[in-house]
Amino acid sequence: MKANAITPSGDPSAAVHPHEDESALIEMLEKAEQEHGYIPREISEEVARLLEVKLERLRRIQGKLDTTIRRDVQQHVERWRNEEGNLIMILHAIQNQHGYVPREVAMELSRELGVKLARIYEVITFYHYFKLQPPGAHNVTVCNGTACYLKGSGDLINELRTQLGITEGQTTPDRQIHFETVRCIGCCGMAPAVVIDGKTCGHVKTSDIAGHIEALKARKETAA
Ligand code: FES
Repeated sequence: MKANAITPSGDPSAAVHPHEDESALIEMLEKAEQEHGYIPREISEEVARLLEVKLERLRRIQGKLDTTIRRDVQQHVERWRNEEGNLIMILHAIQNQHGYVPREVAMELSRELGVKLARIYEVITFYHYFKLQPPGAHNVTVCNGTACYLKGSGDLINELRTQLGITEGQTTPDRQIHFETVRCIGCCGMAPAVVIDGKTCGHVKTSDIAGHIEALKARKETAA
């Protein structure tokens, strides 16, 4: 499942990046100060105007976003309203849609279903299946079931933590590699086993990890 950034148009490239705009404005102010020794009034007025335009745009986008989230959540709730255990079914539908359960969607679900947000997070965190962060472009899953554990899955997990700079359940900051652990995947004869983008690798050694990560990074470079 690929993560879908929540944008009003559904197009991830339409996501807003306020920090980029802020940096450009700050740069403009710093440049003016360096040049003149102070910030001329026409420049500060121009910056204020740009900020107002930006704020207005953000308000409009947020409004559309709220409407989209509300509509989607209402559809899910309507579909499962009278079913027993509907919270889990709705969370499945949300995760299928986004690849994870975004916080703003969980908040809307809490309102729509009349269930406390804390209860929703209780369910999300109880079931390993649900994710709170968007998944990475690639997935590395280490089996930590009994057979794999006895064959050294702990060392593989430590190596991945070191190599990726993240821990289980996290995604690298560039959102390329998501790393997690699971209980037995049913390939105990191949222990210790690691699943990389759906492909099961058996008898994995600590020294293999770097090569697997390099291969994933190379795929990223090819895709870029
Ligand atoms: S314990 Fe890892 S595959 Fe069974």
